[in-house]
Amino acid sequence: MSNILVTGAFGQIGSELIPALQQRYGAEHVIVSDIRMAPLQSPVMVERNFEHVDCTELQQILEAVRRHDIDTIYHLAALLSAVAEEMPHLAWSINMGGLYNVLEAARQYRCRVFFPSSIGAFGPSTPRDHTPQVTIQRPTTMYGVTKASGELLCDYYAARFGLDVRGLRLPGLISYVARPGGGTTDYAVEIFYQALRYKHYRCFLGPATRLDMMYMPDATRAMIELMEADGAALKYRNAYNVTAMSIAPEDLAGEIRKHIPGFVIDYQIDPVRQSIADSWPRSLDDSAARADWGWAPRFDLAGMTVDMLARLGEKVTGPEGRRAPA
Ligand SMILES: NC(=O)c1ccc[n+]([C@@H]2O[C@H](COP(=O)([O-])OP(=O)(O)OC[C@H]3O[C@@H](n4cnc5c(N)ncnc54)[C@H](O)[C@@H]3O)[C@@H](O)[C@H]2O)c1
Repeated sequence: MSNILVTGAFGQIGSELIPALQQRYGAEHVIVSDIRMAPLQSPVMVERNFEHVDCTELQQILEAVRRHDIDTIYHLAALLSAVAEEMPHLAWSINMGGLYNVLEAARQYRCRVFFPSSIGAFGPSTPRDHTPQVTIQRPTTMYGVTKASGELLCDYYAARFGLDVRGLRLPGLISYVARPGGGTTDYAVEIFYQALRYKHYRCFLGPATRLDMMYMPDATRAMIELMEADGAALKYRNAYNVTAMSIAPEDLAGEIRKHIPGFVIDYQIDPVRQSIADSWPRSLDDSAARADWGWAPRFDLAGMTVDMLARLGEKVTGPEGRRAPA
């Protein structure tokens, strides 16, 4: 068996995708790479299988692919929506330049590629409810521009060079292992930390801002299941709509309050992130993913909230954590 390379591996997704890949394929077959060193107390096992790879440097990707006999690349390295809006030039360079380099390395070494697109690939002219698989994509953020362009570039490499490239339009991801990297849906993670510590959260999106979300165990499973699916059954290369729940801050706060009575949410709206959220779909139609490769989420709002509070509670109330008095 040959090996898997993960770029941007120390981020929110990689921190949980790496252990899932290691468990499924064996730790020796998963090569972890990032532009930065492993964060302290990283859950990712990296002793022997770490490569420093800046994805804007084609040579570094080629070298890692060659040295480790890579046949599949999960390309996670990118700047997220809010950060990309602060640094649009850098976002273009990392998100588009990095993807181009990964596709080029994959073309030369015949690797399979996973590309995580996003609900950010849609824009204000997209139908916002039950957003279809194939619809208008005119994003108005730099993040969205790189995701929509990235989908097209992946399609091009699949059609022109016969590359096996697959992708998901991921919604906001909720997780307890690593903190999110500067996206518009980060509130849905921050709220849990603040609820457990202080019983209070000040939200940067308005109470009724409904967006698609997914719990990380569902997201990592979706990525692996898509990559293991029969390629002949895939009508779309980039990228499949997937979702698990469509929720607003007031919904999430209400669910948390069922477990932490007295939890209070108030709002201080960040105009940049609010305008990004207002340009995105409220709910995706993921029927194509369900039909073509059997996608189905396991966690809804209630199930995710119970699990998040239990897992994060252990972290927050551990030696370094502080929990709000009951
Ligand atoms: N987290 C979400 O909610 C979400 C939703 C939809 C799509 N996505 C997509 O999934 C991917 C991973 O997201 P994430 O949440 O883990 O992001 P993150 O910001 O948490 O992590 C990104 C990682 O990329 C690394 N990186 C940055 N520049 C790099 C470079 N030049 N070369 C190599 N590595 C570099 C960073 O060090 C970081 O560890 C991104 O493409 C993102 O757009 C994420």
